[in-house]
Amino acid sequence: MDRFIIEGGARLKGTVELSGAKNAALPILAATLLADSKSVIKNVPPLRDVYTMLRIMRVLGVKVSMEDNVVIVEPRGYSNYTAPYKLVSTMRASVCVLGPVLAKLKLAEVSMPGGCVIGPRPIDLHIKGLSAIGADIKIEHGYIVASAKQLKGARVYLGGNFGSSVLATANLMMAATLAKGKTVIESAACEPEVCDLAKFLIKMGAKIKGHGTPVVEIEGVKSLHGAEYTIIDDRIEAGTFMIASAITGGDIVIKGANVEHIGAVIDKLQCAGLKITDTKEGLRVKTIRSLRPVDVTTLPYPGFPTDMQAQMMALMSITKGISVITEKVYPERYMHVSELARMGGQVMLEGPSAIIKGVPRLSGAPVMASDLRASAALILAGLVAKGKTEVSRIYHLDRGYYNIEEKLEKLGARIKREKED
Ligand code: EPZ
Repeated sequence: MDRFIIEGGARLKGTVELSGAKNAALPILAATLLADSKSVIKNVPPLRDVYTMLRIMRVLGVKVSMEDNVVIVEPRGYSNYTAPYKLVSTMRASVCVLGPVLAKLKLAEVSMPGGCVIGPRPIDLHIKGLSAIGADIKIEHGYIVASAKQLKGARVYLGGNFGSSVLATANLMMAATLAKGKTVIESAACEPEVCDLAKFLIKMGAKIKGHGTPVVEIEGVKSLHGAEYTIIDDRIEAGTFMIASAITGGDIVIKGANVEHIGAVIDKLQCAGLKITDTKEGLRVKTIRSLRPVDVTTLPYPGFPTDMQAQMMALMSITKGISVITEKVYPERYMHVSELARMGGQVMLEGPSAIIKGVPRLSGAPVMASDLRASAALILAGLVAKGKTEVSRIYHLDRGYYNIEEKLEKLGARIKREKED
């Protein structure tokens, strides 16, 4: 296993280029399973989670290859309909092969994703959506077993107790493309990654309207062909680098950042006192004054993204004053709190809220990554902490950030990856 060694104190300066969005790549790769011919997907980030998805597709019998961030998928003739536990248990997002395989093969078996450190990962909305269009779904021996002679369009309310669901929307949208008749999804997820998936499906010949809004309409078609598509850049990586600039008092330009995808993050960082300008080179994030504490509540898009919560907490932990973060999407997503405390962070949890008392300086310490975004938060804290920070179990980070240490080093950070003994 790898760890990062970070020497805090460097102000970040310069330009960084984003990679493709992991959370767009995963459902779009799953969507290629609906097609009768080859697809070419570009700007795919070379990440552990992407490699896991490619392994699942190969187990299903699909020919896939990846070179220079381009994935070629040849789905013709695949017939295996089971996504195995040993792969699905390493990545919950694997559940998004359920909809396409069911629609294509009329049968699908996907291992239950199981929980993870950010909290329970229920799939009741996935089941509700696919059942509404005619799937017969059972849970057997730890697998979701779905079958359908003919999927039929229906109107489905897909909102849950925590609002819309990104991958439940993706699963239903993908399956509905080959259903008979029209499907209307109410309380659909509006995330840019769901929009990107819809745009790819439309290029494959699907008939979809309303993507990016809470009401999405899908008119079923007989078949879909493969297509060529370039995935959007990663808005969470963009937000993470914005905070890397803010936490070090830096001045960086983020190439590829789409301001329409990160409005809530830009808003909060401007409230905290950062100067953020959209220039032709990219999004410039400059520290012009001492930071102000801000209160943040995470919500489904276009609200403040839960995937940016831990990173924001790192920033607020060195911001003078009291900030409050409330997690409305994953109320237990606070694994990073105890690790930040090891660095001197003062965070008190009160139910789904974290009360953060800013300290003048964090101190470097050995800390342990737990989930993807918590790991990012610990790196951000290490960039500003006094002395050396060791972040172990970096494999969590490699799931969702490509070459982050090189990208940070190019901006002036003192960060090295080394093998853990
Ligand atoms: C996607 O997960 C992302 N993953 C997550 O990013 C992200 O945190 C999440 O959306 C929320 O934005 C991918 O896109 C691969 P949800 P997803 O279904 O779709 C509840 C990262 O760090 N819910 O939108 O699995 C659920 O418990 C990852 O990149 C149900 O109640 O999340 C949560 O409270 C982590 N029933 C809320 O909805 C269901 O059937 C939102 O979850 C499904 C979800």
